[in-house]
Amino acid sequence: MMTANEIRDSYLKFFESKGHVIVPSAPIVVKDDPTLMFTNAGMNQWKDIILGTKEPDPRRRTDSQKCLRVSGKHNDLEEVGRDSALSHHTMFEMLGNWSFGDYFKEGAIDYAYEYLVDVLHLDPKDLYVTVFEGDASENLGRDDEAAGYWAKHFPKNHIVNGNKHDNFWEMGDTGPCGPCSEIHIDFRPEEEKAKVPGEELVNKDHPQVIEIWNIVFMQYNRKADGSLEPLKMHVIDTGMGFERLVRLMQGKSSNYDTDIFTSIITEIENLSGKKYSHTFPEGPNGEGTNAEQKVDIAIRVVADHLRAVAFSIADGQLPSNAKAGYVIRRILRRAVRYAYTFLDQKAPFMYKLVPVLVHEMGGAYPELPAQQELISRVIKEEEDSFLRTLEKGIQLLNGDMDELKKNAKTQLDGEKAFRLFDTYGFPLDLTELICGENGFTVDEEGFDREMAKQKARARNAAAVENGDWVEIKNGEQEFVGYDYTEYECHILRYRKVTQKKNTFYEVVLDHTPFYGEMGGQVGDQGSLVSENETVDVIDTKRENNQSVHIIKKLPQNIEADFMACVDTDKRNASAANHTATHLLDYALKQVLGGHVEQKGSFVSPTTLRFDFSHFQKVTDEELRQVERLVNKMIREDYALDEHRNVPIEEAKELGAIALFGEKYGDKVRVVRFGPTCEFCGGIHATSTGRIGFFKILGESSVAAGVRRIDAITGDQCEEAIYQVEDTLKAIRALFNNAKDLKATIAKHIEENAAMKKSIESFRQQAVERTVKKLVENTINVNGTTVVKATLPIDPASAKDIVFKVREKISSNLLCVLGTVHEGRPALSVMLSDDMVSEHELNAGKMIREAAKLIQGGGGGQPHYAQAGGKNADGISAAVDKVIELANL
Ligand code: SER
Repeated sequence: MMTANEIRDSYLKFFESKGHVIVPSAPIVVKDDPTLMFTNAGMNQWKDIILGTKEPDPRRRTDSQKCLRVSGKHNDLEEVGRDSALSHHTMFEMLGNWSFGDYFKEGAIDYAYEYLVDVLHLDPKDLYVTVFEGDASENLGRDDEAAGYWAKHFPKNHIVNGNKHDNFWEMGDTGPCGPCSEIHIDFRPEEEKAKVPGEELVNKDHPQVIEIWNIVFMQYNRKADGSLEPLKMHVIDTGMGFERLVRLMQGKSSNYDTDIFTSIITEIENLSGKKYSHTFPEGPNGEGTNAEQKVDIAIRVVADHLRAVAFSIADGQLPSNAKAGYVIRRILRRAVRYAYTFLDQKAPFMYKLVPVLVHEMGGAYPELPAQQELISRVIKEEEDSFLRTLEKGIQLLNGDMDELKKNAKTQLDGEKAFRLFDTYGFPLDLTELICGENGFTVDEEGFDREMAKQKARARNAAAVENGDWVEIKNGEQEFVGYDYTEYECHILRYRKVTQKKNTFYEVVLDHTPFYGEMGGQVGDQGSLVSENETVDVIDTKRENNQSVHIIKKLPQNIEADFMACVDTDKRNASAANHTATHLLDYALKQVLGGHVEQKGSFVSPTTLRFDFSHFQKVTDEELRQVERLVNKMIREDYALDEHRNVPIEEAKELGAIALFGEKYGDKVRVVRFGPTCEFCGGIHATSTGRIGFFKILGESSVAAGVRRIDAITGDQCEEAIYQVEDTLKAIRALFNNAKDLKATIAKHIEENAAMKKSIESFRQQAVERTVKKLVENTINVNGTTVVKATLPIDPASAKDIVFKVREKISSNLLCVLGTVHEGRPALSVMLSDDMVSEHELNAGKMIREAAKLIQGGGGGQPHYAQAGGKNADGISAAVDKVIELANL
């Protein structure tokens, strides 16, 4: 039996033997395409080639791409673990072969047949292929061409027509698309096959008749207005579900029984004490109808989601509250919730599975072993915090259920269920489960209503409308920004973008010195200048490997000759900060150790932020060492030593540091300053001396195992020094320009403390004297000892006094003290215990009533209460009022 690793190899080798170059997987997290958060198909990384904005070289490629289908057009999240064929995943590998303007339908069909039948020895009798049947609304006919080529290999009944949903593949709402042929396999037992022919079960959700390979004939670009525009070049994009192929080749009944998952599942069994029973899900939504099925679903969800989360973290996407980070957090929480509910895991547990995953997949994906510790720590911290949230949510739900019981109701409000979902991450099924166990139902319609409202709010907040690109001139963009800050150019194309009622335009130039935001460095600003007008470029983004310039209004003559001029002050400041991050990265590795890896950065003209892996706080002493080293490298004034188009292997040999999760082409740019050497596409200072000076402002934690340094450079340091200097001067002036400022301040602090001590001792003496006087001057009213006075003292002393009076007179005591301190009146009432228990007096109640006379309020316990007020003139009357209320 072939192992998963052998199967992956055999695919890549087959296509290599057919003239394809084996290329690495792109990162799972997409960084420079606003239409996508995660790689959802192998073709994503070739989008620019398919759309014709980049030359294809080489034209034939093959790869195994890490994909994640959890958002947007392709979202399989809810299917995972419970679809009828158990063949969906969040993260999966897609085997692909690519032809960019080389072979087309016939070649792709012949290769697919040869690989499946001649190499893997699948029986063609079990294979079915689908062909796009055409679609009147798109004005597209049947793909007879593909059908004709398939007919070379298969009888008619193995070629099945399919509709637009199944046989017209699109990446997203816009972008490359085309008709496709899917290959399905029927692996039912022979007697079943005899009863119902396979072609009737294609695309019918039969657990044993499943799609394994999709061959897309990319012919169109879907535009924003919904129309289809023919592509200039025909492209073959094939995607084979690796996990499904392995299941087939290993003769297993589900993907989870293959060697891709078995060791992870065994570890889940070991850690949780639950058994995996290999059941298929039942129930209306595949949620499982008995305990065994529910446990199996939970085990599959945990095994699947672990991969999605671990690969995303390895590619640099930490769980967070926004965008891609939030999607990852939700996937992880979904797994934790399943484990909590069905596997009884009330403490962090997923992180313990990381070693097995790394052992299984680390060979093919070295980013996993390299970052194992970080992955484990991040997952554990996320689990910890979500479990705390779950506990809080459960407490809240218990409170809600108590309320229902009290009001003799049986249904929980949809709004309450939604609040649990929104704030505590409780999906409806969990709330229903807990409510069900306690005999309550949940108002699902109300929940759906709230959910719809929230979605509408989110849509309004995020609404960005991209118009179609309007072509002005044919051509590819050339970036000249490493060598120039001004360059002659023409507009190639533009589009209108509307976001929250603001309209702006995005422009692509044939030549541009503008750097588009990438790799943590902000985009350039500047202007486009023609003979008659100047248009401000307010920002530059990077999209599909091009700089896209953002302008507020279109130039009147769009076809004019322009000069693209970068704002060099801003650019130089950003460049210096970027160069400083390279020095900082180097210095951190020297001072803290080789485990330090860049996890993110942000540089603008005024900001320098650098995130890196390190597992404890960086000490002040270490930070100083880092600063010293960076500043030394600045003073060395190392010149920028830049190498463009270096073959990636050669760059690695040079010792250049690559970042996990970054997409690098076959040729890369290597940037060196002195001992530092990194893969980098950013804009840099011409030499380190230009940074001027480097100063760390702070060090903090971003996530488990990830620290952040905020720093400043150049003239910002100058300003910071002036600020410190001014503050010091001001302090020195306050201390009469003392020579030894530190000693003078220390002396003042000491004197201050000594003074506080003696004031306290004087206060205590005054309290004692007052108590003595009060105790000597009591009045007896019908057997009660009444102590009453109005004094000019502070409330804290008043409290001390009444407690001390009570120590001396422990029965039949009513002590009422009116005080006025800094113009503010206050009232204190103290009763001995017997006055409370036997005479049923209550200091709190009396004081509330009496405090009205000082326009105040207060309260306390039955034996002691205090109140403050505004009207000092009423204080004596208030004291008398308390005595009157006591009714002695
Ligand atoms: N793009 C197609 C898919 O994702 C084939 O690779 O299914």
